[in-house]
Amino acid sequence: MNKISVTRRTNAPTISRMIYGHFSEHLGRCIYEGIFVGKDSPIPNTNGIRNDVLEALKKLEIPVLRWPGGCFADEYHWRDGVGEKRRRMVNTNWGGVVEDNSFGTHEFMELCRLIGCEPYVNANVGSGTVREMAEWVEYLNSDSDSDTVQERWANGSKEPFNVRYWGIGNENWGGGGNMRPEYYADVYRQFQTFCRTYGDNKLHRIACGPNGDDYNWTQVMMERAGGFMDALTLHYYTVPFCWEDKGSATDFDNDAYLQTLRKASFMDTLIKQHSAIMDRFDPEKRVDLFVDEWGCWYNVEEGTNPGFLYQQNTIRDAMVAAITLNIFNKHCERVRMANIAQTVNVLQAVILTEGEKMLLTPTYHVFDMYRPHMDAQLLDCAVECADLGGGLAGIHASASEKNGAITVTIANIDKAQSVELTGIAASGYTATVLSGEPQAHNTFDAPETVKPIEFTGVVIGKDGITVDMPAHSVIAITFTK
Ligand code: AHR
Repeated sequence: MNKISVTRRTNAPTISRMIYGHFSEHLGRCIYEGIFVGKDSPIPNTNGIRNDVLEALKKLEIPVLRWPGGCFADEYHWRDGVGEKRRRMVNTNWGGVVEDNSFGTHEFMELCRLIGCEPYVNANVGSGTVREMAEWVEYLNSDSDSDTVQERWANGSKEPFNVRYWGIGNENWGGGGNMRPEYYADVYRQFQTFCRTYGDNKLHRIACGPNGDDYNWTQVMMERAGGFMDALTLHYYTVPFCWEDKGSATDFDNDAYLQTLRKASFMDTLIKQHSAIMDRFDPEKRVDLFVDEWGCWYNVEEGTNPGFLYQQNTIRDAMVAAITLNIFNKHCERVRMANIAQTVNVLQAVILTEGEKMLLTPTYHVFDMYRPHMDAQLLDCAVECADLGGGLAGIHASASEKNGAITVTIANIDKAQSVELTGIAASGYTATVLSGEPQAHNTFDAPETVKPIEFTGVVIGKDGITVDMPAHSVIAITFTK
């Protein structure tokens, strides 16, 4: 019999809501069309931001949004995107298209204000200067009357924005400058020195972290720059096959399904290993481990610009999201922010758009179902189940407690089966389930093929709780006492 045992821990850590964060880059149709259509667009919008997407993101209560990249961050010059006259540039990373900078600092801050989330600004280290970054911090956060701040006033914002989260470069081991960790550690120390705190707004300085299993990067960064950072950020993408031919988003067989989930589960190993290195230098866990880019990366949809990274999203992606969020919850003592790549129309998007149409992907629904975990206390959750090969567990779970209610989220990646749930005293529950064939997905003609429905497969008996899980299902249950 499958078993999930839930237990309370003394001094249980809190699952930071920031783990449920998002990332939007100037890449393909993420910002333009996907989020920002401009005030004159026939698509209903608020200050240029499309209302349908805004409403969907508000419903998710997204806690933090990272911007402007990604690779784009390291060729972004923020002054090109403020004021009346915006500078047009070539987006060399993503499709070579002309970026007109009509979405810039003020538009991003307006987006975050409308969503009600924290902004996370990623500064340019690869092709920028210390002064440029320092002035961006001053522009956004100072309430003096310096010339830089007066520029902000002239651009319509009298009050400082008090941006807390500052990324200092992106993937500086690759597209952000091809630096060695020893070199980047010094560059990071220099840049962060001039990333000043204004007033009471203490900055969270985020250093570029490792690419997947590059443990040496973490070692060198912690050793040489650990004392100068508030977070180190890991990037890891789930690629079913290889980078040259990643596999299709929708046309895949059972082997590819399991292989994808096996690769997604590797996040657990990565976090354990990087955390162990961090623990050696920072046993008090002062420095956060962020995962500010994660998600599935497939071949682009046929007929779309290869530089736009547009892909469909199926039940398989829902499984990846569920497994990954369960892993982040479990490691919440060190993992204090994560940002799925990317919000709209790019990679494992939660929303897809086509002209005025919009659809919510299976991944969106997982984020929606997992909302009770935000800022809840972690409960230990041990799973006993079949191994589907290569160490891939058939069932993945996470549990937390908030305001006296316990929420358990389960990903059953296998056939229909039951699981016994122990350690929870409950008299009632509410639950939802998302399930379907692994390839099931939403299209603009059939946008509700995959959506959560009420789940009634929980039996609370005298001897315990049993959950009858449909095949390939993500289930969220909140128990009441
Ligand atoms: O998310 C797409 C790209 O993946 C980002 O720009 C980069 O940081 C990563 O390689």
